[in-house]
Amino acid sequence: MISLPGLIDVHVHMREPGATHKEDWSTGTAAALAGGITTVLAMPNTAPPLVDATSLTRVRMAAAAGARCDFGLFIGATATNTTLLDRLSSEGVGLKMYLDHTYGPLRLEHMDSWLPHFSGWPADRPLAAHAEGRSLAAAILLADLYKRPLHLCHVSREEEILVIRRAKERGLPVTCEVAPHHLFLCEDDIPRLGAGRARVCPALATARDRQALWDNMDIVDCIATDHAPHTPAEKDSDEPPPGYPGLEVALPLMLTAVNQGRMKLDELVDRLYHNPRRIFGIPAQPETVVEVDPDDSHLLTAAEMQSRCGWTPYEGMKVSGRVRRVVLRGELVYQDGKVLASVGTGREVRPA
Ligand code: NCD
Ligand code: ZN
Ligand code: ZN
Ligand code: ZN
Repeated sequence: MISLPGLIDVHVHMREPGATHKEDWSTGTAAALAGGITTVLAMPNTAPPLVDATSLTRVRMAAAAGARCDFGLFIGATATNTTLLDRLSSEGVGLKMYLDHTYGPLRLEHMDSWLPHFSGWPADRPLAAHAEGRSLAAAILLADLYKRPLHLCHVSREEEILVIRRAKERGLPVTCEVAPHHLFLCEDDIPRLGAGRARVCPALATARDRQALWDNMDIVDCIATDHAPHTPAEKDSDEPPPGYPGLEVALPLMLTAVNQGRMKLDELVDRLYHNPRRIFGIPAQPETVVEVDPDDSHLLTAAEMQSRCGWTPYEGMKVSGRVRRVVLRGELVYQDGKVLASVGTGREVRPA
């Protein structure tokens, strides 16, 4: 048995308000605890999206009532909300900008709508972007022009990680995250998964892209799940929404990588704890520990998962590493398949 700190997932989609048939704060945070994650940072593409004081209050009330682990809330950038964000910058864990194709209404199509956010959002508060390919290069340029840090979400391709490497070598204040599905799956898996189930933003890339993420792991700051639950019926429909559930598989998958010698355990802890804390200013949780059995070899199956969405792209995949117990602030909150934390016990992470 080994002990890890309470892990932090900086990229999670809870679906409350608006789509609680996919996930809500109660089920999503149960899934987090089962995955060894004791803090989730939630994305703003709810329905309605979290883009102003009214929607912030609504999401905050749902989260406070339902959460079984700690949480922070991202605020979404829109073409028109730049001025109100002044006041909200002290409320959320960061501002999220959607610069490319995504799920939900928050895409900022034109670069002229990006600029006020790069200039207006306080430079000491995190700014995170869904930016792919050339948009990612453009966003890095803007971070440099406006002299402010930028966090790049779910980096998936070789061209992206190489541009990030160069930016970091030049001392630009960029950080990035990679999702486990871009490390463990690639476009070769699409026929097996089926086109609808496999759909995700950014899309599964080539085996070469996947290898490039592993080869450049030294500059990857965070592993983040991009937990994006949709139901099997939705994924199998004519218009499948993009996204995979990921909260319960991230740690077993990454422990498997450790087991295979592809990553060291302390590098895993850097990417799921120390770096998320540093980048997003997340306080320590006292008396908190995640106990894992790194050698427990088993098959992943949605039947054993807490997420409401009821499927996983890793069904039947063999992993080694299982979460046994999670203690949060001195309370046993998860043990051997059972979530023991009550709803409403999670606390909100607010800027200091
Ligand atoms: C996310 C979702 O469903 O909210 N989907 C996804 O494929 N990653 C949106 C996003 O992260 O862009
Ligand atoms: Zn995204
Ligand atoms: Zn897409
Ligand atoms: Zn996402």
